[in-house]
Amino acid sequence: MSKPRWRRAHAADLEAIGAVAARIHPDLPERPEVLAEKMRLFPEGCRVLVAGHEIAGYGLAHPWMQHRVPPLDDFLERLPDAADCLYIHDVAVLPDARGGVARAYVAEIEQLALTSGIATLALVSVYGTRALWERLGFHPVAPDAALRDRLSSYGASATYMLRELAE
Ligand SMILES: CC(C)(COP(=O)(O)OP(=O)(O)OC[C@H]1O[C@@H](n2cnc3c(N)ncnc32)[C@H](O)[C@@H]1OP(=O)(O)O)[C@@H](O)C(=O)NCCC(=O)NCCS
Repeated sequence: MSKPRWRRAHAADLEAIGAVAARIHPDLPERPEVLAEKMRLFPEGCRVLVAGHEIAGYGLAHPWMQHRVPPLDDFLERLPDAADCLYIHDVAVLPDARGGVARAYVAEIEQLALTSGIATLALVSVYGTRALWERLGFHPVAPDAALRDRLSSYGASATYMLRELAE
């Protein structure tokens, strides 16, 4: 099979994205309309991983404020006027398509951030993926009380991480 590749997500991909999410995140479910809102607010940050004729993964990112984490399964309502990071909401890939694809997604989001005038990437690491994100240049940030409270909905191992981009 040809190498999986990332492309921009379209509304027609929502069902496939939901199917991957249900397999990868059974304990962190999000409503399809919450996902659809992200595609509407910031389509450039929403990608799918195409492997052969299948969608084998997705990555969702949007402008946000550092040290703030949107609640899971809830609407953003609007993007901040003075966004200072691109927040990677989720990257999830089916096991057979893994291997280099998180690195490739982050490289695309890095370019998107730089062309959007944003110099920092942010995410919440879950499922013990902290070492993987460190490998991709992110570092953990000690949360204040409000952030700690927010992180609790992401499970016990949730770690807020930032990556500053070189100009
Ligand atoms: C997270 C996920 C997308 C990663 O996909 P992937 O294709 O395996 O990731 P990559 O191969 O691009 O990994 C990026 C780097 O981290 C490294 N890495 C992978 N697993 C690692 C681990 N457990 N510890 C340290 N480094 C690790 C890789 O070797 C790679 O480094 P390299 O390019 O220098 O070799 C995939 O595992 C997944 O969908 N997991 C389930 C959902 C999930 O946990 N999402 C993240 C939520 S925050």
